[in-house]
Amino acid sequence: MTRTLIQNGLVITATEEIHADVLIEGERVVALAATGSATAEAWTAERVIDATGHYVIPGGVDAHTHIGFGPDPVPDKMGRSSAFGGTAASDTFETGTRAAAWGGTTTIVDFAVQPVGGSLREGLDAWHAKAEGNCAVDYAFHTIVSDVNDAVLKEMDALVDSGESTSFKLFMAYPGVFYSDDGRILRAMQRGALNGGLTMMHAENGIAIDVLVEQALAAGKTDPRYHGEVRRELLEAEATHRAVKLAQVAGSPLYVVHVSAASALAEIAKARDEGLPVFGETCPQYLFLSTDNLAEPGFEGAKYVCSTPLRPREHQAALWRGLRTDDLQVVSTDHCPFCFVGQKELGRGDFSKIPNGLPGVENRMDLLHQAVVEGRISRRRWVEIACTAPARMFGLHPRKGTVAPGADADLVVYDPVAVQTVSAATHHMNVDYSAYEGRQLTGRVRTVLSRGAVVLDDGQWLGRAGHGSFLRRGTCGYLG
Ligand code: URP
Ligand code: ZN
Ligand code: ZN
Repeated sequence: MTRTLIQNGLVITATEEIHADVLIEGERVVALAATGSATAEAWTAERVIDATGHYVIPGGVDAHTHIGFGPDPVPDKMGRSSAFGGTAASDTFETGTRAAAWGGTTTIVDFAVQPVGGSLREGLDAWHAKAEGNCAVDYAFHTIVSDVNDAVLKEMDALVDSGESTSFKLFMAYPGVFYSDDGRILRAMQRGALNGGLTMMHAENGIAIDVLVEQALAAGKTDPRYHGEVRRELLEAEATHRAVKLAQVAGSPLYVVHVSAASALAEIAKARDEGLPVFGETCPQYLFLSTDNLAEPGFEGAKYVCSTPLRPREHQAALWRGLRTDDLQVVSTDHCPFCFVGQKELGRGDFSKIPNGLPGVENRMDLLHQAVVEGRISRRRWVEIACTAPARMFGLHPRKGTVAPGADADLVVYDPVAVQTVSAATHHMNVDYSAYEGRQLTGRVRTVLSRGAVVLDDGQWLGRAGHGSFLRRGTCGYLG
């Protein structure tokens, strides 16, 4: 078994910062000891990594990606290609997980989609077939439930039991595609209350949004910026409120994905104040981008079309505050990349046909570190929201998301003072634009280990497709 020693770094976890050496045997961390201590000095290893002047942090856990996404299952109820343009995410599991590692993320949780009229099993089988043998880092699956019925409810029990998928995303948006009505949502939540599965909710009132979409298009409002205008903040807040109440009736936990609006966050905060097991996730795009981007001239705004949509800049302060106060626990990317040429372009002349989604799996750790540099969050909170909390939320902790004896040696040696400029010309995601083009960030990944294997070092890719393993998961670590 190869012994690896990471020396002289500042080890940062969600709870501690210590100058410590980290000893790895094979795929696991086996011990930590204060740098310079007799214990650390006595350690020998085949491979020694010097982390002087660097942070040693757990590999990032991105709990919301759509690498295997599409083409979407059915046209929408108006017969148009749906919000995803009948097209597929531009990354493969090979390119997407490699890009994740370049950005310091060593675990992703992707969404397997239940085909309409099909089973959860069919969706998961399709995702396993896409991912197996192709991933550079470890991966797990949530399940998108697009059709709640008795058979599906039984499947949910079995998936939670086996750990193949212990979290289930439901949509209050996208009528005719992924949408579930309140009755179906309630039934799925009731099942989650019994079997321990976590309900993840896309909280937007899609029925009302579709009316506003039709009206906007009829009035000749076809530019990307109208995507943000019709997907009204109030309709995110209303759906979030309804999701909380349905979860309360069902007695189930609730995890609200991609929270973008201050008023939706207020609903989550209120629920948490009442002691309800309600959790919230936001994404870098809502923290760093705004409706100003959607309104960029020409058709440039299409690059920023995602749902929930980008909001006016004022919302960002509320989201940062929510992250500091723990009303939001997780930052994931919702990485759902579509190229500008040939994919986003499907919506020229009709914003509703722009495939919904943004690339970002490679940028999350660095963007959040920039928030550390700017004093918005502490270093420990950075590690918590990007590594530890997502691992714990989705039943992967303590194997993932921390630096501790027994944990997988998924580790990042991070240079906190290196300066980089984000660009599509240098990123590794298979997408022809960057949502953060030209942004200067302080901080950069230097070395990445995935289960003890060095996959990236000093700008050199050393990983391989197929190194990443499928992860079975426990249930949410914030309950019970
Ligand atoms: O626009 C987005 N977010 N696309 C991915 C699908 C989803 O709703 O998360
Ligand atoms: Zn969603
Ligand atoms: Zn998503």
